Amino acid sequence: MRDITSYVSDIFLIEGGKTLRGTVHVSGSKNASLPILMATLLTEEKCVIKRVPDLLDVRTTLELLTQLGADAEYENGTVTACASRSLQHITPDHLVRRMRASILVMGPLLARCGRAVVGMPGGCSIGVRAIDQHLKLFEKAGARVSIRHGYIHMEIDKINPVEYTFEVITVTGTENALMLLSKCERRSVLRNIALEPEVMDLVEVLRKMGASIEIDGRTAIIQGSDSLSGFEHTVIPDRIEAGTFMVGAVMTFGDVLLKDVRVDHLGAIMEKLKEAGATVEVINPTEVRVSMRKDRIAPLEISTAEYPGFPTDMQAQFMAMCSIADGTSYITENIFENRFQHVAELQRMGASIKVRGRTATVVGVDKLSGAEVYSTDLRASACLVLAGLVAEGTTVVRDIYHLDRGYEKLEEKLKSLGASVVRVPQR
Ligand code: EPU
Repeated sequence: MRDITSYVSDIFLIEGGKTLRGTVHVSGSKNASLPILMATLLTEEKCVIKRVPDLLDVRTTLELLTQLGADAEYENGTVTACASRSLQHITPDHLVRRMRASILVMGPLLARCGRAVVGMPGGCSIGVRAIDQHLKLFEKAGARVSIRHGYIHMEIDKINPVEYTFEVITVTGTENALMLLSKCERRSVLRNIALEPEVMDLVEVLRKMGASIEIDGRTAIIQGSDSLSGFEHTVIPDRIEAGTFMVGAVMTFGDVLLKDVRVDHLGAIMEKLKEAGATVEVINPTEVRVSMRKDRIAPLEISTAEYPGFPTDMQAQFMAMCSIADGTSYITENIFENRFQHVAELQRMGASIKVRGRTATVVGVDKLSGAEVYSTDLRASACLVLAGLVAEGTTVVRDIYHLDRGYEKLEEKLKSLGASVVRVPQR
């Protein structure tokens, strides 16, 4: 893997006007890998995780595990981790600041050490991103929680079984709860849980470790074990990476075969692409071909929701597509309150977008024009790259480290499909 600092401030130069054609292999899921890596702290035995994408966030997580006292090695997409020694319970603040998903360490660390000190994550560019539900659950399970000098301090003598109904559906909140309660031998019930495929992949792992977890609708019944075992697991494909290539195929009026996907995780995305006029052919459960044979992209109405609804992590990419659709699209963001930062950058490229409250009205234009734009978060960056693929002239996308947090070899994959994308290191 490359050194973290070498990612900082690379830029992409994109020559627009190329059509995406060919085959692309989708990587393992970032948001499934991160909690599974954290779950290795729950056992002293060896864990082997395959198909882990080579990403900045993965590297940060491995660094976190190592700093806590675990051994964690990464080679050719496989992580071998073993937390056999006694662990540090204090998480270095700079790692939590670098990656918000570091909060996923709270559940495993509390379960394993009986105490944890983790930097308070604070807001980020897509919104406030509260963690009250994580903390309430920990308290219900018997933890004493206090926030002092920017750190969350937690201590627990014994993990009590819990009956808890989440007040909002939260992905990492559900994951933290499942990881903590998997160490409790008595039966817990969680209601209103997140059902994202990444959460279900973690459930699969916790079952392999010895926890009994039943899922019935949005309810989970957990009967854990004090001696969880090691496991071997292959991470699910990244549905957001898949969706991003699918949108790229449609926007460029191309034809792309996606391999190594889970078609059953892509329902809401495929539905919207079909509405836009795309041809979506499911070849088998792991392969899907997306092509655009029509000469116009139909405008869309999109409203983000928890899985199985339309994912917030695809909202920005679809906005790039709607900005060249033939008509007016309405995109409503219901999950995060500030996830429209890509709008201003798309406007620099000639898009016609107005935001009122949670809804963006996107009036399709004939052409976008290449410009210098800044990445503000991971999915916003993907949106700008897609816009660059269809813009006239050159687009310069700055602060590419956001992309490196979540897309494995994006420029190489795009180039193999015919795009003109060059990474220019800025050091
Ligand atoms: N929320 C609360 N209280 C809580 C937790 C969440 O009010 O205790 C609110 C949040 O403020 C937000 C909503 O609930 O408005 C949903 O937040 P959630 O907790 O589900 O988000 P997350 O777990 O922090 C994960 C993904 C995100 C993805 C969201 C939604 C990981 C590491 N991150 O975040 O992924 O957008 O779920 O699906 O799994 C990305 O990959 O680009 C990304 C941001």
